[in-house]
Amino acid sequence: MISKTMESALNRQVNRELYSAYLYLSMSAYFETASMKGFAKWLRLQAKEEQGHAMKIYDYVIARGGVVSLEAIEAPKAKWASAGKVFEEVYAHEQKVTGMINNLVDIAMKEKDHATFEMLQWFVKEQVEEEENANEILNQIRILGDVVGHLFWLDHQLGKRE
Ligand code: FEO
Repeated sequence: MISKTMESALNRQVNRELYSAYLYLSMSAYFETASMKGFAKWLRLQAKEEQGHAMKIYDYVIARGGVVSLEAIEAPKAKWASAGKVFEEVYAHEQKVTGMINNLVDIAMKEKDHATFEMLQWFVKEQVEEEENANEILNQIRILGDVVGHLFWLDHQLGKRE
């Protein structure tokens, strides 16, 4: 069993991971419209990863005899000023998610919930990668110049993501 406090915090994270998926899908649609197919593909796959994160927690809550409760998902914005602005937001968002995961770990520690603590270690490691990827793309955009004409190489590179 997990405590009601832990259950409710995990349910909240399911919602936030689904929001992340929604946000990245909206960013992907923005790049589709701008004919930047590589950026669009990268973010579409990222959205899929976020759904996977949500389902990992969802399955865990069920495995521990908890109750999954799904709340409304906040609508993401749909427009950005440039590719750089999108990735500034991706990077800031991932840092925010890292804070949420750390907060969940704090709750698990406080509750002496070793199983949840252990499950969350996957997310702790994943967030290192998530922040690194977002920061790397943001830096590449800054080096190349945050204008569409300079980003075709990067668009091509990002389009190789499987
Ligand atoms: Fe679910 Fe991008 O962290």
